[in-house]
Amino acid sequence: MRVLGIETSCDETAASVVTLDGASAPVIASNIVLSQIEEHAAFGGVVPEIAARAHVEALDGIVEAALADSGTTLADIDAIAATAGPGLVGGLIVGLMTAKAIAAAAGKPLIAINHLEGHALTARLTDGLDFPYLLLLVSGGHTQIVAVRGVGDYQRWATTIDDALGEAFDKTAKMLGLPYPGGPNVEKAAATGDATRFAFPRPMKGSAQPDFSFSGLKTAVRQAATAIQPLSEQDVADICASFQAAVADALGDRVARALARFRQEFPDKAMPSLVVAGGVAANRTIKATLHKLCAEAGFAFVAPPLKLCTDNAAMIAWAGIERLRAGLSQENGFDFVPRSRWPLDSISAPMVGSGRRGAKA
Ligand code: KG4
Ligand code: ZN
Repeated sequence: MRVLGIETSCDETAASVVTLDGASAPVIASNIVLSQIEEHAAFGGVVPEIAARAHVEALDGIVEAALADSGTTLADIDAIAATAGPGLVGGLIVGLMTAKAIAAAAGKPLIAINHLEGHALTARLTDGLDFPYLLLLVSGGHTQIVAVRGVGDYQRWATTIDDALGEAFDKTAKMLGLPYPGGPNVEKAAATGDATRFAFPRPMKGSAQPDFSFSGLKTAVRQAATAIQPLSEQDVADICASFQAAVADALGDRVARALARFRQEFPDKAMPSLVVAGGVAANRTIKATLHKLCAEAGFAFVAPPLKLCTDNAAMIAWAGIERLRAGLSQENGFDFVPRSRWPLDSISAPMVGSGRRGAKA
């Protein structure tokens, strides 16, 4: 099986060819990702209209490059898989319409993929994991814990009731005058800071509700920063370190709860796994916290290479292969309309109304 994947749901324009030959491990034959970070940096965040236009300009060339890099032509491709949601609708339209056009012209099937399913199945592409396993997705748009039980069989156990974790990093950076994207810069500043100087809240810690919340933490950071203006470099470092410690602590509490639930629901799973995905998974403090938690709870900690943890099209092509293989691709196709909101499972309604706003709510 050979599938061309296309991803345009946020600020990466990406295309990839993934192949699966019988029982051998899948191969990422090409994986091209064009980041739009420079286009958005001046605005301190992703501007949807700029993103959509940048996708239009780049996508043709990116698809051509992905085919060329893999040494294949459209004739060798079994299907086209494209992200159809959730995400910024302008970008989704560009990617899905382009995929439909290519598929129609080449006479190939089209598979509309849920971006979150791409993240959820990546660990099977990179590490050959068996179902079920637990996924922690922490990116600029999503903060979720998902029980991955099979292809098309997902259960969201927790989500954020306000900001996504990456968003909290980005907003913290902005408040402190650090450049976009905030996450890596907050982590860098935190390295020389005192994590005990500010006692920031650990939102939801100990709560019976399994979800995440980060907006209270963000407000606490703003208040602390305002109280000691003008900020010295050491102040910024201390705030970043204290913020990061609070995040790791709060996240660890939520994940520990989910690990315990997984044990209860899947008592027969001999060596269960926690998989991380999303840009925030690059953070070493967070990674170390999760690693320790998993070791204590008897879970394997699986962190796919960062290039496949953050947005890419190999995960979309792979989800296409998984769907083809499971016979689940027929329900998709040319009539599929992009969905800015598209929960992975039908029982988990979006958290809109409890504070979560924006395209990826
Ligand atoms: O998965 P991703 O590349 O894109 C989407 O959001 O879809 O994630 C980007 C997010 C940004 O919010 C960025 O600030 C955050 O991941 N991030 C980090 C780090 N590197 C990236 N957050 C904390 N620590 C990092 N080292
Ligand atoms: Zn993503």
